[in-house]
Amino acid sequence: LPLMDMRVFLLLCLLALGNAKPPRSINALDFMRNYDIMMADSSDEDEDDDNDDDNDDDNDDDGYEDNCPAGCRCSPRVVQCSDQGEISVPGKIPEDTVILDLQNNYITEIKENDFKGLNKLYGLFLINNKISKIHPKAFRDMAHLRLLYLSYNLLTEIPANLPPNVIELRFHENKINRIQKDAFKGLMKLHVLELGANPLANSGIGLGAFNAMSSLYVGIAEAKLTAVPKDLPSSITELSLDYNKIAKVEIEDFIRYKNLQRVGLGFNQIKYVENGSFASTPSVREIRLENNRLKRVPPNLSSLRYLQVIYLHGNKISGVGVNDFCPVPGGVKKNPYTGISLFANPVKYWDVQPAAFRCVSGRRGVQMGNFRK
Ligand SMILES: *[C@@H]1O[C@H](CO)[C@@H](O)[C@H](O)[C@H]1NC(C)=O
Ligand SMILES: *[C@@H]1O[C@H](CO)[C@@H](O)[C@H](O)[C@H]1NC(C)=O
Repeated sequence: LPLMDMRVFLLLCLLALGNAKPPRSINALDFMRNYDIMMADSSDEDEDDDNDDDNDDDNDDDGYEDNCPAGCRCSPRVVQCSDQGEISVPGKIPEDTVILDLQNNYITEIKENDFKGLNKLYGLFLINNKISKIHPKAFRDMAHLRLLYLSYNLLTEIPANLPPNVIELRFHENKINRIQKDAFKGLMKLHVLELGANPLANSGIGLGAFNAMSSLYVGIAEAKLTAVPKDLPSSITELSLDYNKIAKVEIEDFIRYKNLQRVGLGFNQIKYVENGSFASTPSVREIRLENNRLKRVPPNLSSLRYLQVIYLHGNKISGVGVNDFCPVPGGVKKNPYTGISLFANPVKYWDVQPAAFRCVSGRRGVQMGNFRK
């Protein structure tokens, strides 16, 4: 049987892990390019705005050095005050600032007027501070804010009145143990909602916590979940719940997430996947169930026409049936598998019929390995 190269596989695992854990520091200047692209797109549609922006830009670009707050570094429309030992947000930040970088400081609190008048902000980076308190009016001028990064702080709850047009909201590794009702209300443009590495249990997710909001990705890895949360926005296409304490997967779990394409459930305690759990996610492409306690291949996978990647390594699977992955002849498989991992299971690979993998593309598509004991 063709074996997938172990190194390639490990790399994939590392990449998957890398996605779950954003780097502690980011380069604020990288985001300026995205901003320029976005502005170029929007000014094509609106010439008046374009003219306004051009005038503003001329002004900005002239005075940026003189107007730079003490202790910060400035370039046109970018103010960087990272790694300065700041204990609060510096004053006199120019009003035309588009990117404000306050990473790696000791800021404990965001006060009502810290960001007053900064109504051109596109990205606000507060990663790795000591923030436990954010005034409910702190974000009131931020109609244009798209990126709000609050990872590695001490927040215990979601701040009130988040900027309405934000597309990335990151709260990785805070102390959030409760998500109140309507916490994200009105945020209809989110692509990324990162809540991983917080002490969140299912009981801490209040009824209606995700009311009136939309996101493509929700991440709650490394938390205290014992079940798949059923109340997440129904818009999600990607969900990461790796490194929790989920014990089983049930029919109701994904019933609302009809657009789901990638789901991560690795490193949980899943013993059992109920038949029909993925029946309402017909377009799912990737399911990660590695390092759980499964005794068999999840049922009815062969009905998932678009499924390409399924990680099952590190379980207790002892046998693979000839129709566990692939539809019976005459059934439809739109996309062949590109990655099935079964290594580190007590399956005797010589007992598996090669035809079990008849709908896998390429010789590296299956990683079986030996079970060492
Ligand atoms: C199994 O897959 C078929 C085909 O997609 C689907 O109609 C059926 O509902 C699934 N049943 C269960 C129990 O998952
Ligand atoms: C799951 O349900 C389908 C019907 O929807 C059935 O064909 C299949 O045998 C069931 N699988 C198991 C393992 O019960």
